[in-house]
Amino acid sequence: MSFNTKVVLVTGGSSGLGKSICLRLAKAGHTVFGTSRKANGQHMDGYTLIAMDVTDNASVLRAVSEVISQAGRLDVLVNNAGLGIQGAVEDITPELGQRLFDTNVWGPLRVCRAALPQMRKQGGGCIINISSVAANFGLPYRGFYSASKAALDRMSEALSTEVDRFGINVVTVQPGEFNTTIGDSRLRPEVISEAHKPGYEKAMAILGGSMHYSRDPDELAQVVERILNDPKPKARYVVAQGMQKISILAKKLLPGRMFERMVRKHYE
Ligand SMILES: NC(=O)c1ccc[n+]([C@@H]2O[C@H](COP(=O)([O-])OP(=O)(O)OC[C@H]3O[C@@H](n4cnc5c(N)ncnc54)[C@H](OP(=O)(O)O)[C@@H]3O)[C@@H](O)[C@H]2O)c1
Repeated sequence: MSFNTKVVLVTGGSSGLGKSICLRLAKAGHTVFGTSRKANGQHMDGYTLIAMDVTDNASVLRAVSEVISQAGRLDVLVNNAGLGIQGAVEDITPELGQRLFDTNVWGPLRVCRAALPQMRKQGGGCIINISSVAANFGLPYRGFYSASKAALDRMSEALSTEVDRFGINVVTVQPGEFNTTIGDSRLRPEVISEAHKPGYEKAMAILGGSMHYSRDPDELAQVVERILNDPKPKARYVVAQGMQKISILAKKLLPGRMFERMVRKHYE
């Protein structure tokens, strides 16, 4: 193995952003393992797809030890596997919200807990958590998606300060909208209340339209590749277009109610 090639584990390597990250890193010469709930160790274009369900601790432990036994080490973990959710806050049952958090928050925690002992043993490593621009706002009708990604960001921030002393970098990446099929697997409430239906349907129509015209996942993969090659990466990377980036700044600068009015106007 050459000095600069790394052993990388990407959760959710079967589609969308995770697949693009696997393809790009494999092409650059890294040893890449992607994961899927349906995988059986098949070889993709330059990377191996192994089985992992991030909601199942035994499956996470099995996959991480498979990487270490096959490659001898684990340098980079990309916590990418994630789900979307749609629905008014009032329509989301705690059970449905729990399912989302199980994948988007407890999932990355399980994988970090499985990977960190090996990284510590090696004297360093890098954990890249794929969050979302949505972590910065309570997006209407996607409130629990925002909440799960905000939780992931705060967890990453704390973890980063705790593991820096072991030479382990923790990085948060906040993508804006990328052209993937994430919308197809979004969790949805069984019942959409009449009161919320008009606002919900309008918001979903706007979201569907903007996702359709969103960016190529390889652009996000390029940022991940840059992070991986940087010995001192930043704590957070926002990979989003103009308006989404401006909204993050506006949220910081504007009084809360003024920002809410702006969001309402966008969705109306
Ligand atoms: N697309 C966007 O615009 C966008 C924007 C911001 C953030 N993100 C974030 O980027 C990440 C990837 O999203 P994407 O758009 O690429 O979605 P996607 O195309 O739906 O891919 C999701 C990936 O996650 C895996 N996955 C889902 N649940 C899993 C579980 N329980 N255990 C293991 N793997 C699981 C899926 O693998 P299998 O189904 O094969 O198991 C799949 O490979 C997510 O964290 C998402 O929140 C996406």
